[in-house]
Amino acid sequence: MKKIVLSGIRPTGQLHLGNYLGALQKFVRMQQEGIYDSFFFIADLHALTTQPDPALLHSNVRHIVAEYLAAGLDPDKSTIFVQSDVPEIPELYLLLNMHVGIGELMRTAAFKDKARKQLGITVSHDDDDNDVAREIIGNESNKRVNAGLLTYPTLMAVDILIQHADFVPVGKDQEQHLELTRRFARRFNSFYGVDYFKEPQNFNFGGKPVKVPGLDGSGKMGKSEGNCIYLVDEDKALRKKVMRAVTDAGPTEPNQPMAEPVENLFTLLRLVSTPDKVEFFTNAYNNCEIRYGDLKKEIAEDILKITAPIRERTKEIENDEQYLARVLKQGAEQARERAAKTLADVRGIMGITPFWK
Ligand code: TYM
Repeated sequence: MKKIVLSGIRPTGQLHLGNYLGALQKFVRMQQEGIYDSFFFIADLHALTTQPDPALLHSNVRHIVAEYLAAGLDPDKSTIFVQSDVPEIPELYLLLNMHVGIGELMRTAAFKDKARKQLGITVSHDDDDNDVAREIIGNESNKRVNAGLLTYPTLMAVDILIQHADFVPVGKDQEQHLELTRRFARRFNSFYGVDYFKEPQNFNFGGKPVKVPGLDGSGKMGKSEGNCIYLVDEDKALRKKVMRAVTDAGPTEPNQPMAEPVENLFTLLRLVSTPDKVEFFTNAYNNCEIRYGDLKKEIAEDILKITAPIRERTKEIENDEQYLARVLKQGAEQARERAAKTLADVRGIMGITPFWK
């Protein structure tokens, strides 16, 4: 039996370098190894938690399938599908929610951040769980945190568990959700006294999970932070973004510790450039001879080596609606096969198999 790989990305906009280095690049490499049964999908139901414009959601789904294919995912080697094409997922989500606690969902870091954004409260990272709970329960304005956002981790766990995935290649920011998935799987197994769900793991080819920083000096690259390099950025625009990345006045003493914005540029360099370039610029920094302009130029060119071919292929594929539709139709059929089996098993385990049929 081949090990099963599964991962997804929300269609909330064009894919950025964080999505690529944290996730999509691993999808393609894992597919190419040829030893896994792989499933890659577009998490459109998850995107609904932030209430996107329907027309935009529709076009984002199409764009991301094109980006998946342009980056190297191959429908003959991987199952590529859209989450909402698998109706077994929302049904299992309802069933699994019966074993998930609201407290544990409210303590999830992503929930706390997004809930506060929905309420229009400034996000602080050292927030107290009780404060967040009070803000949500006590909020009497017409702003609300939707229940779908709270149960986001259940839906993600279902995506994974319904296909019995062994490996879930994701960036560092999704590890807490993966930990919850393992917890839900263990809880289900122990509650019903079965050995049914597996406990999935992240996959990093022996390295560490990746967190791609933004260009604004702090935090991660993210669509809502406005600090992204997109895979489809044109050469000129991309170079301009990198050249504008925040730095500092430069080191004044040998081996001076790096400020966060500079550390972030080196993180990017390590992710996209060769080890000898990393060594060259690290030495230049340590000897106080670094020129940030040169460093940024190298980073921009090395990013373009990765993104420009994907950008060009995306343009070709994106308008071939018939091809995209064929890929997704085939993917949905394949994804539903195991999903239907899992759902039937779980209904049986939970005691809702109808005896009148
Ligand atoms: P999403 O859409 O936020 O991000 C998709 C993938 O990109 C990774 N990522 C990053 N990695 C490194 N550095 C960054 N700056 C960065 N920004 C994003 C994310 O870690 C992720 O791997 N909940 C998921 C989607 C999802 C899912 C699933 C994933 C739904 N169901 C089941 C795996 C399995 C999400 O919101 O990803």
